[in-house]
This record gives sequence, C-alpha cells and structure tokens, in this order.
Amino acid sequence: MTAARDGHPKDFLSLADWSADRLAAILARAHELKRLHHRGETVQTLCGRTLAMYFEKPSLRTHVTFEAGMTQLGGHAILLRPDQVGIGTRETAADVARNLSRWVHGIVARTYDHALVEELAAAASVPVINGLTDLLHPCQAMADLQTITERAELSKSAVAYVGDGNNVASSLLNAISVLGGELRLATPATHRPPPSVRKRAAELAARSGARVLWTEDPVEAVRGAHFVYTDVWTSMGQEDESEQRRALFEPFQLNARLLAHAPDAKILHCLPAHRGEEITDDVLDGPRSIVFDQAENRLHAQKAILEALLTQA
Ligand code: CP
Ligand code: NVA
Repeated sequence: MTAARDGHPKDFLSLADWSADRLAAILARAHELKRLHHRGETVQTLCGRTLAMYFEKPSLRTHVTFEAGMTQLGGHAILLRPDQVGIGTRETAADVARNLSRWVHGIVARTYDHALVEELAAAASVPVINGLTDLLHPCQAMADLQTITERAELSKSAVAYVGDGNNVASSLLNAISVLGGELRLATPATHRPPPSVRKRAAELAARSGARVLWTEDPVEAVRGAHFVYTDVWTSMGQEDESEQRRALFEPFQLNARLLAHAPDAKILHCLPAHRGEEITDDVLDGPRSIVFDQAENRLHAQKAILEALLTQA
C-alpha cells in the first residue's frame, strides 16, 4: 500500500489495503452509475482527466471498460504497449511512473509481476490501479461484488469458488474478507492462493466476521450455494503448464453434474472462458449464467473506482 490520505489509499493495488467503508462506498456508487447509464444520463465527473493504461498481457474487458469508462466520465485514456514504453530496457519503472505523473491523472497497469505495479505506485504521485497481476485482480472482484449485490445481500450469500486459487480467487477472497459474507473455496491443496494472501485475508475476516471455508471437494463448496464462480485453469503466462493443469483440475469442472448440488445458484466467470475445460457450454450459456452481467459491471465498477481515485489526484 502507498501513502494514504484520510485513510484512503492513493492506489488501488489490493482490496486488502481498503477499508470496508471505502469499498462499500465505491460499490454503492457503481450501482448508481449503472442506473444512470441505463437511463442514458451523462455523468461528467472526470472532465479533462487523462488515464494511462499500460498492458503487458492481453485484455478485452479491462482495456475496453477503462477506456470507455474514462470517455463516459468526460475524460480520456491512452493505451501504452510495453514495447513502446520499454520498462527495464529504455528506462526504469520508477522513471516511467515519474514521467507519467507529470502528464496524466492516473495509471492502470496490467503486469505479470505484482512487484512491478507496487514499484510504479511507489514512484508515481498519481494513483495506480491494478488491472491484473499474477497475484491479484481487484477490479474484477469489485465487478463480482456488484453482480452479487444487485441480486442478494452479501452477508446472506454463500459464494463458492471452484478451480484454481489464482489472481481472481485471491481478490474475491480479499473482497469477501473485507466486507463480510461466506466464501467456500474448492481448489487442489497445492493451488490455493499464496500463504501471504491467505494470512492477510484471515486477519481481515476475523474483523469483518466473514466465513471462509477451504476444501478440496467441489461438491462440499457448491452445496446449497447462491453463487458459484470459476475461472480458467491456465492463467496468462502459465501456458507451458496447461496440459498438466487440465489433468489436475478436471474434478473441478463446472458442469451440470456438479451444479445439481446447487440448484438455485447463479453462475459467475470473469471471462475469457476456456469452454469445455473449467466450465461446460451448457452451464456458461445456460439460464443461470450471469457472466455477461458480470462483464458489464466491469464498466460501472471501474467508473466508480476511477471517480474515487482520480477526483483526488
Ligand atoms: N476478466 C478480465 O479481466 O478480462 P480481460 O482479460 O479481457 O481484461
Ligand atoms: N486468471 C486469469 C484471469 C483473466 C482475466 C488470468 O490471469 O489469465
């Protein structure tokens, strides 16, 4: 976490850095921005503001929703490719962050190494937003919470996450640990979120009253759940392991057989999906799937995050 103003972190790197009150306020604004958007009302809270977007990995949702979000709020976004910027080859990460801070009001960075977004944030005087790292995906988790809370109260919802304990799982764990609720994670014991993430989440859950269940049994996780979530078994950068991952995670597939244990559950997936691996077509395209609402909410949740960070910059 970098310098805080009024208990409000400068950056949006990990939800574990944010208080429940601040996250709840961002979520409430995300719901409001969605209502305004659907009524066709214009919200120009970021007029004249510019966002730099640095992506080391591919993206559809994060790129388009940040760029469209800035345009809709009256601002502008610039996409930077790593080969143009040359962090570590043309200049240091810190020098890139110091330059950008003189021109733009915020930076979104999607990197492999989580330490790089922390390095950018430490050197930048403007907010840095984590657009996904190997470790975390906090913007995704905010859209996930928006998608859940537009249907149910978080405190009364049992959310099951089944599959790889990756960046998406870690941020969902952080989100529910900060805000409260029930999360059941079914992963192979070898593929839980890293110990540092689990330890911090346990501290946050002790404070919020969140209930977190760890299991290797997908049926135990999904039984009677209100929401069942999965993500790819092979994340970006792990392609060399994809064959062994397919074998390891096969018992964790979201299919009709597993979901018979959660007859009322809505289905979440951050997308992109590897259809036929972690989720079957009939589930992803079925009547209980809310994955495109969830994708839509990336726009509204991130507009709320942008307002929270960039109006202070
Ligand atoms: N869910 C998500 O972050 O999608 P992209 O990788 O397309 O941005
Ligand atoms: N866990 C996936 C999420 C993609 C949005 C990955 O990191 O590739």
